[in-house]
Amino acid sequence: MGAKLTFLGHAGVLIEGSTRIAIDPFLTGNPQAAMEADALECDHIALTHGHEDHVGDTIAIAARTGATVYGAFELCTYLQEQGVERVEPGNPGGRIATDFGFVAFTQAFHSSSYQGRYMGMPGGVVVHIDGKTVLHCGDTALFSDLRLIGELYRPDVALIPVGDRFTMGPEHGARAAELIGAPRAVPIHFGTWPLLTSDISGFRPEGVEVVRLESGRDMAL
Ligand code: NI
Ligand code: MN
Repeated sequence: MGAKLTFLGHAGVLIEGSTRIAIDPFLTGNPQAAMEADALECDHIALTHGHEDHVGDTIAIAARTGATVYGAFELCTYLQEQGVERVEPGNPGGRIATDFGFVAFTQAFHSSSYQGRYMGMPGGVVVHIDGKTVLHCGDTALFSDLRLIGELYRPDVALIPVGDRFTMGPEHGARAAELIGAPRAVPIHFGTWPLLTSDISGFRPEGVEVVRLESGRDMAL
């Protein structure tokens, strides 16, 4: 059986294949949370940036599971200070080879801080597992080098923030999906709170299948 991707709500996903990788596991306080943080089982956690709606329950999950955390250098330094034992720091443009494939960091136009402290560059995260590649764009504005990122990593699935205000909205997200060129795109980071739009009818990229996952639902990679 191949790997699958489960939407955890907001910007969180869990990829399960030969190993289990959570990206941005924000569950406690997440109105869309697919599960309690205590129920999430994973071996690795990849973080796009330091905002609370992305770091989420990382410290508690890592303490319970011993998961290795991949993230920006400054964010990893902070997490180590909080007791996270296994970290793999990186920065945009870099790739970390793993026993399951690789984790890479891409550019994102955003900010990254936690409780007033600078958490390094925000990014997107590429996870390559069991021959499949997932691009989580993180929180970002639209930028034309998303095309280059798509060419470099050839993702099978792109996770695209479309809630507007803090990231792209639906129309810009559609352009992003077209630039990245992955055959399938999953809209994320919308409707979680009233500040984020819940009307994503404008997310209609040409030539890309939109897979809209309800929280807790999964798709095969
Ligand atoms: Ni953010
Ligand atoms: Mn966010």
